[in-house]
Amino acid sequence: MRLILLGPPGAGKGTQASRIVQRYEVPHISTGDIFRKNIKEGTELGKKAKEYMDKGLLVPDEIVVAIVEDRLKEADCKNGFLLDGFPRTVNQAEALDKVLENMNISLDKVINIKVDKNVLVDRVVGRRICRDCGATYHVKFNPPAEEGKCDVCGGELYQRDDDKEETVTKRIEVYLQETTPLIDYYSNKRLLADIEGEQDIDKVFEDIVKALGSEK
Ligand code: AP5
Ligand code: MG
Ligand code: ZN
Repeated sequence: MRLILLGPPGAGKGTQASRIVQRYEVPHISTGDIFRKNIKEGTELGKKAKEYMDKGLLVPDEIVVAIVEDRLKEADCKNGFLLDGFPRTVNQAEALDKVLENMNISLDKVINIKVDKNVLVDRVVGRRICRDCGATYHVKFNPPAEEGKCDVCGGELYQRDDDKEETVTKRIEVYLQETTPLIDYYSNKRLLADIEGEQDIDKVFEDIVKALGSEK
């Protein structure tokens, strides 16, 4: 399956991605995670990306497209992939179309997780992530058994640098302006599956599986 996960900051893309990749056995490609890994490792790419991310702005298209193109050519993407947080502009979507065309492959579905703007800030500000395994929690909606500690691996939970309220508000604004045109873009290509994101995490996943079908 070749899939895209679309949705505003805090919609639950990462949360659903970890379930989707287990169920459909495809690699999870999150451009945000790739940038955060590079920031942590202090690479040139990380330094560049951080300038934009800390302000809630998008990293320039040419940087992101080159990274995704390289990643899609890796062997583990042969039988499919799940793109999380890419594309985010019409320009990126058009570039992706060209990359896929050159590889002689096409997308199967674009999952659009819909969540109302007023719910997003609470979700993002309350998010906590495991430093060691990347598992995602929420202080209210999905708390770990023990505060500050990962259920999966016991690692320490932390808050992302761009999850402060003012940065989140900016990210949502950028999403509405730059990314929402992709809803029409993929709807016109008959690839869009709208998913109601304001439900229980398990119920959202159930709806995604319904939209994708049970085949791998
Ligand atoms: P990125 O890391 O992609 O962040 P984002 O799109 O803002 O999305 P989030 O990761 O914040 O939210 P999510 O939808 O994954 O939600 P989650 O599942 O964690 O990008 C970060 C930055 O990198 C960008 O701002 C940009 O600068 C740069 N970047 C990345 N890609 C780029 C690109 N293509 N082009 C240019 N720049 C790019 O859930 C959120 C919280 O809600 C969690 O606490 C979770 O537990 C909780 N939750 C989840 N589902 C539910 C539910 N159903 N009910 C209640 N709570 C829930
Ligand atoms: Mg995410
Ligand atoms: Zn962990």
